[in-house]
Amino acid sequence: MRGDFLMITMDDIIREGHPTLRAVANEVPIPPTAEDVELGKEMLQFLKNSQDPVKAEELNLRGGVGLAAPQLDISKRIIAVHVPSVDPEKPENGISTVMYNPKILSHSVQEACLGEGEGCLSVDREVPGYVVRAARITVSYFDEKGEKHKIRLKNYNAIVVQHEIDHINGIMFYDHINEKNPLHLKDGVLVIE
Ligand code: NI
Repeated sequence: MRGDFLMITMDDIIREGHPTLRAVANEVPIPPTAEDVELGKEMLQFLKNSQDPVKAEELNLRGGVGLAAPQLDISKRIIAVHVPSVDPEKPENGISTVMYNPKILSHSVQEACLGEGEGCLSVDREVPGYVVRAARITVSYFDEKGEKHKIRLKNYNAIVVQHEIDHINGIMFYDHINEKNPLHLKDGVLVIE
């Protein structure tokens, strides 16, 4: 990925240990440049391809629900998320979007984590342990047209967006795991199965 926006594949994704994953990424100009709009589209398309069994196999993609520009060695505050609703009658329960300069405005006191822990396209190993995050967040971001949005997310969608926003701040999911006791949970943490 060096400005020549061909289709993103696993070869474009940098892995843990690469310094870009630990850097705080730069804000992008709003409205986003044509190049940043194209990048966002390719990021979202990658996620869709990765969730399509035929394309994923053909392109040898690991399934993913989120991708952040720093994972492509591009230190910009751009993230893509693609979480289809599990209920076809309620497509609004899913989230599929590209966010430019996303920002968490507020979060719940209630915490949540995924029962299975988290994974990351930049981490080629299983890291056991609960990744405790806020159960609900309010996020602002700009879309590809430069329009500002403010949305509230909960549970799985909130977790995915927090994981991706962490990437633009140089944070990896396992930074949140309790080192001494990875499977210890405080009372009151919502476990999402
Ligand atoms: Ni990740």
